[in-house]
Amino acid sequence: MKALNHIFAGLGLAIAMGLTATTAQASGGHGCGTYKDIEGKEQTLHCESAPVDLTNKASIQRGASMFMSYCAGCHTAQYVRYSKMYKDLDIPKELVEKYLMLTTDQVGDHITAKIDPELQGQWFGAAPPDLSLETRLRGNDWVYTYLLAFYEDPGRPWGANNIVLPNVAMPHVLHDMQINTSKEQYRQNIGDIVNFMAWMAEPVAHQRKIYGFWVLLFLAALFIPVYLLNKEFWKDVK
Ligand code: HEC
Repeated sequence: MKALNHIFAGLGLAIAMGLTATTAQASGGHGCGTYKDIEGKEQTLHCESAPVDLTNKASIQRGASMFMSYCAGCHTAQYVRYSKMYKDLDIPKELVEKYLMLTTDQVGDHITAKIDPELQGQWFGAAPPDLSLETRLRGNDWVYTYLLAFYEDPGRPWGANNIVLPNVAMPHVLHDMQINTSKEQYRQNIGDIVNFMAWMAEPVAHQRKIYGFWVLLFLAALFIPVYLLNKEFWKDVK
């Protein structure tokens, strides 16, 4: 019976680990800073929930396109190659070359900014960080809320400030998009960008869950012969 207990314990552990990994990823669990309300009281800002769905390829593709036009001018994504985009995201190579490769002409290259980060540091007062792993660092919801949290502030060098990252050095680069689209469309666009960033931070996350399912199924199936074998071995001992 001892062996059986071990098998049960092992299976339980494997399932628990699988579940923890899934929920940890879904929740993110980061706060989005604090702000002062009208009475001057410190309030915690709750992150908005980012519509991240790594099975929604259309959304990731739209996000890739917007990321390259609106973000990659300043930010690098140095762990991602352009070739990965057309292979994994089913974007035709010609389209990647024509519309997405704004910083190089080699598809095997990583996404690096055209402008020297050190110079940018001098211009903006803070160098734009690499965004390859940003959603893992801050959480999807933090990044989503941050991008939604820009507001006009004439006191700042670029005329904009941010609730989540007060006195931010990044300009409100989506300002034109914000005033030229509906509120829903604007949110969807930012959701798509974050979805792309989540894919970028962990391109295999979706596949990993599928593998996880099959591994658990395999373990469950393996349990049957192991159980019978166990019975067989102990039959004569007792
Ligand atoms: C004009 C240059 C510029 C562009 C374009 C730009 N950023 Fe930034 N970004 C910055 C700078 C500079 C910072 C550093 C801000 C600071 O630390 O105060 C920053 C910071 C950030 C941060 C916060 C990093 C952190 O963890 O502290 C995120 C997230 C981010 N940018 C995302 C984006 C996205 C997404 C886009 C495209 C929609 C974008 N940025 C476009 C300059 C830029």
